[in-house]
Amino acid sequence: MYYVKPLTADDVHYVASIMSETRNITALHSTYHSLSEWKYIFDENACDADEDNFLICSDNDVCAWLKLNGLLNADTAWISMLVVSDKYKHQGVGKFAVEYAFEYLHSKGFNQIGVQTTKDNVAAINLYKKCGFDIVELKKFKTEDGTKVKAYVMMKTLEPKKYSLVIPDETHEEAYIQMMDRWESIEDDIQPQLLRRYSDSQGKNVEYSKWLEWCEDDRTTGSMLSTGVPCTLYFFVDDTGEIFGAIEINQKNTHRGHLHAGIVPWYRGKGLGTIMLKLALNICKDMGMTSVDIVPYKSNKSAIKTILKNGGILMDEFYEDDKWSQMYRVSL
Ligand SMILES: CC(C)(COP(=O)(O)OP(=O)(O)OC[C@H]1O[C@@H](n2cnc3c(N)ncnc32)[C@H](O)[C@@H]1OP(=O)(O)O)[C@@H](O)C(=O)NCCC(=O)NCCS
Repeated sequence: MYYVKPLTADDVHYVASIMSETRNITALHSTYHSLSEWKYIFDENACDADEDNFLICSDNDVCAWLKLNGLLNADTAWISMLVVSDKYKHQGVGKFAVEYAFEYLHSKGFNQIGVQTTKDNVAAINLYKKCGFDIVELKKFKTEDGTKVKAYVMMKTLEPKKYSLVIPDETHEEAYIQMMDRWESIEDDIQPQLLRRYSDSQGKNVEYSKWLEWCEDDRTTGSMLSTGVPCTLYFFVDDTGEIFGAIEINQKNTHRGHLHAGIVPWYRGKGLGTIMLKLALNICKDMGMTSVDIVPYKSNKSAIKTILKNGGILMDEFYEDDKWSQMYRVSL
């Protein structure tokens, strides 16, 4: 029913309009700003990497403004503004916006979200309590209109997501297609290679059912692989079924090790590669392996970091195809 869009320079008039409503000025202890003042404020902060602004919309109308900040912090980000237009109040917009903030900040790796609200703002306090925030502090606060009031600092811990590795089957079709459509538009050398769905002989991407047959062949005979060693491709998913990447486990060691992995470009740099590798090492252990070799290119610093974090030890390096590779071993 509601949806979110990032706030652009053309949308500032919506903010000006919502923030000029008397009930909102009163609740926020703020003062009136003209549209040109708002434009100036947003221009000043346009390149501020520490904050993001969103509009909560319904059909073609704008219901609320949500601003998050602290985005450069390591652990905790903040709802620094949430304001709903009068005609949409008490219709679930606030709750929707807060839940969106959870989702957004979670995907960026934050563990905690905070908000500060004045003690007299019953609607806001109720909203945040309902969304799982706890009051952690009561402090003195000077508002924009110059009033000295008391304000609550409220915090909510974002539950860590549960990730797992799963063998692709029919249930993953939609998630796979969505992920590949996006990934193929960004990179053409998708890793691990077995994720690719392009058929040279047909000159196009194959249907998902055909791609599943390829996976089955890789797992059982490995006859289509240059190594000839059967290997299993796993999707790296969370509890909603979204695919964050994939990892191949060779049943036997090869010239380029036991494992090949990749995280989708839009979730890189958030520690997911380390989690995926840890899960894969557990599977290797269950398969009876006592050690696992991984052979990244020496230039692939992020892959090497995930291996070191999982206990990998550098054993060897070699030059091949104009590139240096390193061989790491993880004892299980
Ligand atoms: C506070 C605010 C963001 C809530 O948004 P909203 O869309 O009206 O809230 P929702 O419809 O999602 O309501 C969620 C919960 O909030 C609480 N709530 C909302 N309006 C309330 C009110 N007028 N009185 C008491 N509790 C209220 C209730 O617990 C409600 O749950 P319920 O419907 O089961 O009773 C909105 O009222 C607003 O914009 N206020 C002015 C600006 C402001 O104070 N922002 C907060 C700054 S920290």
